[in-house]
Amino acid sequence: MRSLIDILELSVEEIDELIATANGIMADPHKYSEKCSGKKLATLFFEPSTRTRLSFEAAMYELGGHVIGFSSANNSSASKGESVADTAKTVSCYADIIAMRHPKEGAPLVAAMNASVPVINAGDGGHNHPTQTLADLITIFKEKGRFNDLTIGFCGDLKFGRTVHSLIQALSRYNNIKFILISPEELRLPDYIIRDTLEKKELKYIETTSLETAMPELDVLYMTRVQRERFFSEEEYLRLKDSYILDTDKLSNAKKDLCIMHPLPRVNEISVSVDDDPRACYFKQVLYGKYMRMALIMKLLGV
Ligand code: CP
Repeated sequence: MRSLIDILELSVEEIDELIATANGIMADPHKYSEKCSGKKLATLFFEPSTRTRLSFEAAMYELGGHVIGFSSANNSSASKGESVADTAKTVSCYADIIAMRHPKEGAPLVAAMNASVPVINAGDGGHNHPTQTLADLITIFKEKGRFNDLTIGFCGDLKFGRTVHSLIQALSRYNNIKFILISPEELRLPDYIIRDTLEKKELKYIETTSLETAMPELDVLYMTRVQRERFFSEEEYLRLKDSYILDTDKLSNAKKDLCIMHPLPRVNEISVSVDDDPRACYFKQVLYGKYMRMALIMKLLGV
């Protein structure tokens, strides 16, 4: 039995296979419509979500399976003090696979250690978000046709942005990737990722506060939201929240084939006027995420 807690648990070959499966589903969804017949997915979301929870649920329904679960800690016995370990043991009696989001880093790992069914990390605090990374990877592959030889800008909250952390780790395994890390000083990428991933693997990276300066060089721009829910101080959040706002003017010196991504939800960091630009890929990312989650559910269930 296998869970997915960290994106690095999947080899690059397995990621290629998941992308191939997702493309196969997109080409012929009917062929997959009974693959998980009789199986149940439990979505245990202790933190709000639109895309991740609903795409997992849509994925399981489109595979012919069923879904149970809760969408907030208040609707579960966690509100009475039940532990993550006991929750995982309990839900294992009802479901064949679990997708868990939790505000505490490491909670899905604890669930996986106690569950008797596969557990998928659907986002744990400011740590990791491996299934968003699967959505991000297929988007990059479909838009750019490769994972090697890319300059990728990550912009916004790189400190708490779990999607950024997982995607940098995933991309660190490809060749000739240059990372441009664009953030205010207060929201820099955590030292442990710089040290244990970028520097350990001798990857090319620069840190800057200027999106405008970085723009002409970028093949991919990964925008992120400054996340109010991760701040201890409302004042600090208000000071930093609009550090970067991508608008059509800022794209004037960008490459013609730039791929603009965002894990969403967005607040102000991408102007809605950018949505009509053919380089805006963030709603494609949403759709691809469902197909990658379908491929992942099948893989972990062995169907
Ligand atoms: N990208 C993402 O995780 O979105 P949700 O918080 O809506 O699930």
